[in-house]
Amino acid sequence: MAGSPDSVPWRGAWQVALYGSQGFYRRPEGPAGHFTTSAVGIPHATPILSQALINLADRHQLNTIVDFAAGGSGLIGTIAELDPSKRCVAVDITERPPSLSADIEWWRAGGGAVLPTEWAGLHGCLVIAHEWLDVVPCPVAQRDERDTWRLVLVDSDGAESLGAPVSGADLDWLSKWVPDGVTRAEVGNARDQAWNGLCAGISDGLAVAIDYGHEYAERPVNGTLIGFRQGRAVTPLLDGSTDITAHVAVDSLAQDTRAKQREILADLLPAMALPSHALASTQPAAYLQGLATHGAWTTLRAPGGLGEFWWVQRALGR
Ligand SMILES: C[S@@+](CC[C@H](N)C(=O)[O-])C[C@H]1O[C@@H](n2cnc3c(N)ncnc32)[C@H](O)[C@@H]1O
Repeated sequence: MAGSPDSVPWRGAWQVALYGSQGFYRRPEGPAGHFTTSAVGIPHATPILSQALINLADRHQLNTIVDFAAGGSGLIGTIAELDPSKRCVAVDITERPPSLSADIEWWRAGGGAVLPTEWAGLHGCLVIAHEWLDVVPCPVAQRDERDTWRLVLVDSDGAESLGAPVSGADLDWLSKWVPDGVTRAEVGNARDQAWNGLCAGISDGLAVAIDYGHEYAERPVNGTLIGFRQGRAVTPLLDGSTDITAHVAVDSLAQDTRAKQREILADLLPAMALPSHALASTQPAAYLQGLATHGAWTTLRAPGGLGEFWWVQRALGR
């Protein structure tokens, strides 16, 4: 792996590629133009997820819901519609969407680990970070032929080479959180610190990171860094044309509990049964609505699919 002169460590290149002035998340179409998530883009799923989060807030007597990394604000908008008694806040790096209800506050952040200026002393809040940590850039490391962890560098064409040995807190993280036999990994220390920063701004409440991830015993042997463009997995490019993401090491995040989305939704919501066939002739519209809702419920809990998402929860100040 010979490096070209403009090769740099992945973390900085990734930050610019997503959040720089020409970055992917500055594009006018927004994230929803490229992929669907549990929060937006799956028919009938957004109200289900929204109600689950409202129920979680109620369970903890929290009257404010903050959607951190809100994207186009579809999730927080639905939460506000379903429960107008909640104070709703959305945080993202872009301008406030013009269509956003006036009742919803909009705070701007810098991207990646950079938080908004308002981020301090939040009280009585449920803070949701849905698919945020996977786009918090982190170093990428690879073992060389002597088994030494080295930083992976990338150049403007996306070609990789190996740089300096990993050291300090990042090496400590690799030693603690990555098993033998894994040859390449995203160094989760950066995500742990970003999550700690998010939690530090909450004086009283609950932080929930919802994301795809892995635990120690299942760390992927070659890491998970990947690009996405218009719904398709592609080689990550640095020119702002692709999303760049990597699964989250969920076990290294400071937390009280974590569980899979399929378990969490079953806990927070009543089971959604298929509508009876009799309804089809008496109330066909209600029958079709029931079918669609049941389909979304199944999708959100699907084994091997969205049901595998992790919900990492941390109570603050209580
Ligand atoms: C993968 S999208 C997820 C959007 C939405 N939460 C969803 O699940 O559909 C990641 C979002 O995180 C936002 N983001 C990244 N870093 C951020 C930060 N420091 N503060 C606020 N938003 C951030 C991006 O702008 C982008 O909208």
